[in-house]
Amino acid sequence: MAAAEFSGELPPVHFPPGFLWGAAAAAHQVEGGNIHNDWWAWEQAGRVKESSGRACEHWTRYPSDFDLAVSLNHRAHRFSVEWSRIEPKEGEWHDEPVQHYVEVVDALRKRNLEPIVTLHHFTTPQWIASQGGWNNPKIVDAFGRYVERVAKALKGRVRFWATINEPMVYVNMHYLEGIGPPGVRDLRQAFRVTEHMIQAHALAYKILHAHATPDMPAKVSIAMHAGFFVPCRPWHPLDRMVATLTDQVFNVAFIEAITEGRWIAPGIAKVRMPQAKGTLDYLGVNYYGRQFLRAGKGGPGQWVGQGCNLDHHTRQVTERTGMGWDVHPQTIYHILLRWKRLGLPMFILENGTWMDDDAARWRYIARHLYAVGRAMQAGANMLGYCVWSLMDNFEWAHGFGPRFGIIEVDYATQERRIRESGRKLGEVYRTNRLDPTP
Ligand code: FCB
Repeated sequence: MAAAEFSGELPPVHFPPGFLWGAAAAAHQVEGGNIHNDWWAWEQAGRVKESSGRACEHWTRYPSDFDLAVSLNHRAHRFSVEWSRIEPKEGEWHDEPVQHYVEVVDALRKRNLEPIVTLHHFTTPQWIASQGGWNNPKIVDAFGRYVERVAKALKGRVRFWATINEPMVYVNMHYLEGIGPPGVRDLRQAFRVTEHMIQAHALAYKILHAHATPDMPAKVSIAMHAGFFVPCRPWHPLDRMVATLTDQVFNVAFIEAITEGRWIAPGIAKVRMPQAKGTLDYLGVNYYGRQFLRAGKGGPGQWVGQGCNLDHHTRQVTERTGMGWDVHPQTIYHILLRWKRLGLPMFILENGTWMDDDAARWRYIARHLYAVGRAMQAGANMLGYCVWSLMDNFEWAHGFGPRFGIIEVDYATQERRIRESGRKLGEVYRTNRLDPTP
């Protein structure tokens, strides 16, 4: 869509009845007391300036948190199950946490909130992390055994699943940049980890389908972080090559593996992965902003090239979020039209921002949502939209500083306060209508 289409008099966009409006969160970021996973160990080792600790105490406060979501007209909620609670030591299975997640799902259903369940959201039990984690092929079957327990317990209760959250961000953060456990910066390991994640996803897909019931058919995806890589200098052949290659590795390879059963192995040779073919029922999309790339020696372990903060095309630093991330709402439109070719419905499983000024947060959300609406008018088949996040939470390597919530959390008292952006979004959720925001 040309930028001009975003200026001037634009019509409102309308969303269909039954559109799944909601918010997303992840266990380690909100629950508190997740002491058996590798992120906890990483925090205790002083690798993050503060520990996730009690986080938002969502483990016990979930009923009132869901009431707040209902008061904002939500109809869906995405959360993750914490493997390390269910299997804190190898082969030692705990039933109480499983029962807890059954109750969470029932609490959602009671409030007419459609549950969307993520099975791996960046945290891995410490017992397997200490054996090599996702770099150890053993993790595939171990993950399968855990998924089997969850699938059995939630049988007949859950339709939407996200097996693994942002596999390529996971790989990048933990095995290339090394800012999450195990802090590795190694391209070969990164490829192996990716391969194991493809296998684990495919196995989980089969397990979830085996436990689906006729009145609750399984809809399984990953939550794909849709990267959008822009050559810093669009006229420069090397920058263009770097952007294309990164797009291939970061965006295309995993999706090709789980749709067509082909995967680019280390050495960039295509190998067949027949077990992964056709293991995607819908496409979960997470989008935050673009990344600018320029040719040159990347940092240790980076794919190719390096990130750049300047849009060399306009020679300007673009609008940035509190995280320093680029703001470019039109891009979500292009991403949705790009992936429409898979012929699958799509679901925004994360989109949102940290801005110190809540009005800027609302502008970010509204402009992205508007672009989603325009993509739907252009034929993108969308199931719903989950804002990241329901409330402020523990933002991984950045600790509690960043505040992505449409609900503010006072960590000293655990009080929640709905932000104006949350109320405005709630109006869109209620009316299925959004006016353009300049
Ligand atoms: C995504 C993660 C999520 C959160 C947001 C800000 O990449 O999936 O847990 O950290 O970024």
